[in-house]
Parts: sequence; C-alpha cells; structure tokens
Amino acid sequence: MALDIVIMAAGKGTRMRSSLPKVLHNLAGRSLLQHVLQNVAALGADRIVVVTGHGADAVEAAVAAPQVQFVRQMPQLGTGHAVQQAAPLLHDAGTTLILNGDVPLIEPATAAALVAACGGERLALLTVLLDDPSGYGRIVRGDPAGRSATEGGRVQGIVEHKDASPAQRLIREVYTGVMAAPTAALKRWLGALRNENVQGEYYLPDVVALAVADGVAVVTERATSETEVLGVNSPLQLADLERRYQRRQADALMEAGVRLADPARFDLRGTLDCGSDVEIDVNGVFEGRVVLGDGVRIGANCVIRNATIAAGALIQPFTHIDGEALGVQVGAGAQVGPFARLRPGAVLGDEVHIGNFVEVKNSTLGRGAKANHLAYLGDATVGARVNYGAGSITANYDGANKHRTVIGDDVHVGSNCVLVAPVTLGAGATIGGGSTISKDAPAGQLTVSRAKQLSLAGWKRPVKVPKST
Ligand code: UD1
Ligand code: CA
Repeated sequence: MALDIVIMAAGKGTRMRSSLPKVLHNLAGRSLLQHVLQNVAALGADRIVVVTGHGADAVEAAVAAPQVQFVRQMPQLGTGHAVQQAAPLLHDAGTTLILNGDVPLIEPATAAALVAACGGERLALLTVLLDDPSGYGRIVRGDPAGRSATEGGRVQGIVEHKDASPAQRLIREVYTGVMAAPTAALKRWLGALRNENVQGEYYLPDVVALAVADGVAVVTERATSETEVLGVNSPLQLADLERRYQRRQADALMEAGVRLADPARFDLRGTLDCGSDVEIDVNGVFEGRVVLGDGVRIGANCVIRNATIAAGALIQPFTHIDGEALGVQVGAGAQVGPFARLRPGAVLGDEVHIGNFVEVKNSTLGRGAKANHLAYLGDATVGARVNYGAGSITANYDGANKHRTVIGDDVHVGSNCVLVAPVTLGAGATIGGGSTISKDAPAGQLTVSRAKQLSLAGWKRPVKVPKST
C-alpha cells in the first residue's frame, strides 16, 4: 500500500504582510516548508508532492530535492483546490498524508501515528485543544445518539472560524491542518467539494462531512503538544513559535548538562554540539554547525556560526565568529574577545589570545600567539608565541590579488605596523613599531622602516600676525 504526502504551500500568507511567500519565512534559520519536509522525511513516502502557487519559482528553488515533486496551483482557490492539483500524482491504493506548509513543527512520530490511524481506510484528523482557538477550523462532533463533543460524540465535520456560529466558535478542539486519508476515497471527495462559504474557497476540511456521508469512519488523533501543530499566519505567530522552538532546544541542551544563563535569551539556528561543563551567557546566537568542547565558556552577546571551539576556550562578550563555508577553529584554552571578529579560515592554535577589535581571516596562528588589540591578520601564517602589536595589519590585497604573510615563531611585531604581503618575517624577528614592511625581515634581527626621529633645537611655533587697521 502506497504512502503519498501532499504539502500545501501555494497560499500567499496575506497576514504576514510580506513580499516573501509565507512558507519561506524562517524559523530557527530554516524555512517553514523545510521544517515540514524534514519532519516527514523519515516516513519513507512513495511520493512527496508540494503544491506551490504564490511565489512558486522561489518556493520550488528553495526546497528542490530529488524526492520532492511540485505541482502548481494557479490561481489559489483554497486548500481543497490545492490538493485537487496534486490528486493525479497520488496512488489510488494507499494513504495520502496532507500537511499545511505553514505548520512547521509537526513531530515525525505524530505524523506516523496519523498514517497508522488511517490504515488506508479511515479518515484520520490530527486535532488539538487550544485555549484560544480563534482562526482555526473547529471539530464539530455529535452523533445520532445525541452525545456531545465532550461525551466523545462522533466527528460530523469541520467548520472554519469565519463560517462558524457563535456557539461553534466556543469549540476548543480544532483541526491542525494535518490529515491522512484513503487515497481513492479522497479523490472522490475532492471532486465533490463546493465553494459555498464565507471565503468562496474550496476547503479541504469539507472532505470530513463528505466522508461521514459516505459512511467512512472518521477518527481523530490528539497532537502531543500545542507547539507541534501551531500554524504561522502572522509575524506575531511566527515569533511566538520561534520562542517555543528555541525554548525546546534550550531545554534539551540543559538536560544534556549545558549551563545556559537564561534559556529565554538563547538562539540556535542550526546544530550545537557541546562537551561537558559548557557555559553560555545571555544572548548567544549560534548558527550553522557549531561545536563547543569541554569547559568552553561563551560570554554574553556572541554570534557564532560554523565554528569549532576546543576544550577550555573562553569567548568573551560581543565576539562575532563566522566561519561561512570554510569554518573557524579555536584551539584549546584560547581566549577570544571581547569585541573580536573571526572570519572564514581563521584557525587559532591552543592558548592563542585574540583581543578587542582584532579581525582574523584565513589565517593560522600557532600555539600561544597573541594579537591583543586593534589589529588585522588576513591570509597570514603566524608561528607559535608571536606577539602581534596593537594597530598592526597585514596588507594582503594589492587591489587585484591576495597575498600571504608568513610570520615565524617568536616574532614580535610592534604597534602600528603594515606588513605588505607577500612578505616573510623570520623566526625571532622584531619589527619596530610604526614600520611598513615590504621586504622580508631576517630571523632574529630588529627591522625598522620608519624615518629616524629628529628634533629641531631653534624651531619656534608660528604666532598670529596682528591685523592692520
Ligand atoms: C487551515 C484550515 C483550518 C485549520 C488550519 C490549521 C482550511 C480551509 N482551513 O486554515 O481548518 O484549522 O489550517 O493551521 O484548510 N494553501 C494553498 N492553496 C490555497 C490556500 C492555502 O496551498 O489555495 C496553503 C497555504 O500556503 C498554507 C496552507 O495551505 O500552507 C493553509 O492555508 P491557510 O490559508 O493558512 O489556512 P488557515 O486559514 O490557516
Ligand atoms: Ca494557516
């Protein structure tokens, strides 16, 4: 028996008031639609069909993958109309799982349970009880025996918020936008949908009443949490869901022993692997793939993306680390910041110190090297124990090409030096402050390139010439 999945992603998302299609808005660094696709990936569907329409080119480009097929819905006449577009791709013998592209956090286990509840013969709806159900389709129950919803009355249908009577609006059990249906019957019901409602749309939830009329059993599964079924229709709902998701990630990290100063001020937009005794102060933002070794401490207000930070390293407040595609590596026991910037290809050895307003890009620093203040190291190979003075920079770019600077072990570069690459400073060399170094400096010697200091004994300060009247 086949399992097909349809994800509806054609709507405009008017309430987002954005030019970006709603399903491409980000939650924790990934689009809403990517979350849905990831959460159903493990179901092993025979087909995954994404219905696109508004902003279709952008949506399709954003989630294109070999296992995903797209159908276009033009114009967008409602969720029932959306699934009609996918119907020709669905296998008659089997189950179709339908999801809203704007309900991102559906748990894989919940989706699997719904498919099982359908079993290729029943219509299975995922529902949830909400304190504030406004905006959602209400589950209308009641059966010939006259039992009410609370008494477990059978599902009769779903009524959209806009079409609901005042009494129906009091119903707190809502449809989550996720259903599993026997595919052949679903196709029949889709063909019978009408658009006689407040919005003049073909509503997918109307298949429920058609199933009831057909004598097909309608069963409901309850979502395990509200969070997994909340839909995103507005910036407010997006921000609310983001906080819930972040809190869940923060809780998982804390359960694994990570010490977060405040789980409400923590953002992870990717993956974070932590060793033991990791401490993270407030307002940390972690993106892409970040690895923190044992005992790493992250100060307040750091933004860290695609980086590996080894055991015992200390990242002081307001440090920005962005490894982009190349990554950044910080060695064991290193200290970085406050106010430091590590860019792609920065590789800091053990015990390296990088201080305030120091930028490091595509450079390797040997064990114990220090650049403590106001400096730039780009395309440089820096030896062990080098001391790189305040205000010094590598001039690595000649306007057309990048060149390397090689600094041997134990070199001291004074303050305010310009190292014009390509250039090599031999091991143990000392560079006098204020020098512009454009030729190699020999090992073990002092190299200075600034003009000799001189003093003029008879020099007088200019004075103002009185104006003649
Ligand atoms: C929908 C349900 C509602 C349910 C809620 C759960 C309908 C009519 N109502 O309401 O019962 O409680 O989800 O979150 O289905 N879409 C299309 N084509 C269209 C219209 C929408 O692909 O023509 C897509 C949207 O991109 C979105 C999803 O379907 O991903 C849901 O559409 P939306 O307009 O947000 O429906 P809701 O009003 O939230
Ligand atoms: Ca919605």
